[in-house]
Amino acid sequence: MSRRRKIYEGKAKDLYEGPEPGTLVQHFKDDATAGNAEKHAILDGKGVINNRISEHIFSHLNAIGVGTHFIKRLNMREQLIREVEIIPVEVVVRNIAAGTLAKRLGLDEGTPLPRSIVEFYYKNDALGDPMVSDEHITAFGWANPQEIDEMMALAIRVNDFLSGLFLGAGIKLVDFKIECGRLYENDMMRIILADEISPDSCRLWDMKSDEKLDKDRFRRDLGGVIDAYQEVARRLGVLQENDPVPTGGPRLVKG
Ligand code: TMP
Repeated sequence: MSRRRKIYEGKAKDLYEGPEPGTLVQHFKDDATAGNAEKHAILDGKGVINNRISEHIFSHLNAIGVGTHFIKRLNMREQLIREVEIIPVEVVVRNIAAGTLAKRLGLDEGTPLPRSIVEFYYKNDALGDPMVSDEHITAFGWANPQEIDEMMALAIRVNDFLSGLFLGAGIKLVDFKIECGRLYENDMMRIILADEISPDSCRLWDMKSDEKLDKDRFRRDLGGVIDAYQEVARRLGVLQENDPVPTGGPRLVKG
């Protein structure tokens, strides 16, 4: 039996050909990068934890009628997904000032925003994912105005769902990034959620202490990255209280 064909190599995930047309296998790696890949490390078990957290979130979103690319988890590091045409725009939703917003506008990190703010960034590593407006997106043909409206609506629905989910786990959802893709079915096209949602793509702070439970621990050299990701997984009920850090390669799981 030969290994499936790799069709895309990303910083934290690879994509392989799926078992049927229109499907792909998304493989979560332990690689962590920051500062446009200038900083790189292997964090044992990160891929396994993110696969589980993203499965948890995407399957709940599917269940409440938010379209996502997620079909099912295949093993410790892989999930079966629908193939979509990725829109080259990252959508960031912010509830509390942090990161580049705090820096750009001179706000103290932790300042609650008057309302949730949606921003767009052009997906381009060589340029460091610059922030763009609707005008850039439509002028350069990355998405049309109706698609921008659909991405905004999707982002807001995901924000509402995620804010509640994390609130129930004693976690503040500060901000997060999503990616969207076009799914072609018969003669129809719709925009669905793609990529992943995990502590790699969200800022998550403990409700009481504001302790960071996300990738900022890696970006800012705070240590304890895997412990924090595991804590998120445990609070979401994805990992059991005494589970060891799940390292290693793909293994078959039941279900
Ligand atoms: P920022 O404050 O660095 O602009 O990031 C905002 C949020 O979006 C934060 O949770 C990290 C996430 N994000 C990514 O995961 N990948 C990206 O390429 C960008 C621009 C943001």
